[in-house]
Amino acid sequence: MSEALTDETTATTEVPEYPMLRSSGCPFAPPPEATRLGRDKPLNRVRIWDGSTPWLVTGLAEFKALMSDPRVSVDDHVAGFPHWNEGMAAMVETRPKSLFTTDGEEHSRYRRMLTKPFTFKRVAALRPAIQQITDDHIDKLLAGPQPADLVAGLALPVPTLMISEMLGVPYEDHEFFQQQAVTSVDRFATKEQAEKSRMGLARYLIDLVKKKLDEPAEDLVSDIAERVRAGEIDMKEASQLGTGVLIAGHETSSNMISLGALALLQNPDQFALLRDTDDPKVVANAVEELMRYLSVIQNGQRRVALADIEIAGETVYAGDGLILDLAPANWDEKAWEQPDKLDLTRPAAQHVGFGFGPHQCVGQQLARAELQIVFQTLVRRIPTLRLAVPFDQVEFKHDRLAYGIYELPVAW
Ligand code: HEM
Repeated sequence: MSEALTDETTATTEVPEYPMLRSSGCPFAPPPEATRLGRDKPLNRVRIWDGSTPWLVTGLAEFKALMSDPRVSVDDHVAGFPHWNEGMAAMVETRPKSLFTTDGEEHSRYRRMLTKPFTFKRVAALRPAIQQITDDHIDKLLAGPQPADLVAGLALPVPTLMISEMLGVPYEDHEFFQQQAVTSVDRFATKEQAEKSRMGLARYLIDLVKKKLDEPAEDLVSDIAERVRAGEIDMKEASQLGTGVLIAGHETSSNMISLGALALLQNPDQFALLRDTDDPKVVANAVEELMRYLSVIQNGQRRVALADIEIAGETVYAGDGLILDLAPANWDEKAWEQPDKLDLTRPAAQHVGFGFGPHQCVGQQLARAELQIVFQTLVRRIPTLRLAVPFDQVEFKHDRLAYGIYELPVAW
């Protein structure tokens, strides 16, 4: 382990606290403190909730290099792993291994179980359903009173319906699993709260897998149930896989829709650009740029070094924790010209909004399809859309794994 970790004086006086907050003055930007640190060096020590001082990685090149380095592990059992919070640390021994916490061949085995439903072809087949659900919700918004909340009316239900359909989770249960999912990704969740919500979701998924064993359907939980029947995974692993997809797949897309809509409203020229194009490539690139600009996954991807690694003039020692923060990497001045400018025409495909390397987002094709359809349909069908409250009254989610907004009051 490196000396910086044992040097009490340095540790207590100079090392900045992490996570860092975004600024209320520019809520789309990465935390200013992370940007400031990144200007000097792409890797810096930060202090987290348990007093440990992992590396914070903010450079785009270093983010990509480390996220795809086999000497970097996502296994939260390894000493030095920088846990999110007390709840996550406390559950290391009881939480079954999963897609999110395994490396190499073990990870590939889980990952293969999920690739089929998320292929480009399968997702392309879902586009008409996404379009229909989006149109239905916009119809309801247009028929309802103004101002309307775009989060409750569009951003939350569309991804929730899609993920429910894909998994084969009854939509009637969405309030239950939304609540559990919210607590399980709450940065300030206590050990008891995190455990309760995880257990609730795990029990729910186990019941669902059992049901699908008896009555299989064309959905992801039925696919997982089939793996259980074949003896490839046990019930605990099956529920962990299902829960993971459920959590990863609905709050993320939902926050991206609401935050993206707000960013478009704040940039009327970019709103007009998206409204006036018929070119699917322009729409696709617009979504990549919104992903770069907004980086909804906050508070860093957590990893631990398994060997000494030389990078950007630093030595990351075996056992050092790594926090790879995609928001500052997506605004790295060395990689992007005027990163603070939302420019839907810039080539943005090299962003890391979906992560990078072997753990890169499984659901990214689904998320892209949802975002492309929702943003373009919204600006076309409600071209006079406007924010119904002053911008500084919009409340941002600083306390969640995924950054976003609680409510988006709009009128037209
Ligand atoms: C805009 C929406 C989304 C964003 C910003 C997002 C972002 C991410 C990121 C950054 C990772 C990498 C985690 C890491 O390396 O530690 C990830 C992984 C993952 N995402 Fe997404 N995601 C989104 C939507 C979805 C959807 C719709 C699904 C599923 C329906 C999904 C399922 C997953 C899963 C299962 C993983 C874990 C992959 C692995 O560890 O191998 N995500 N996502």
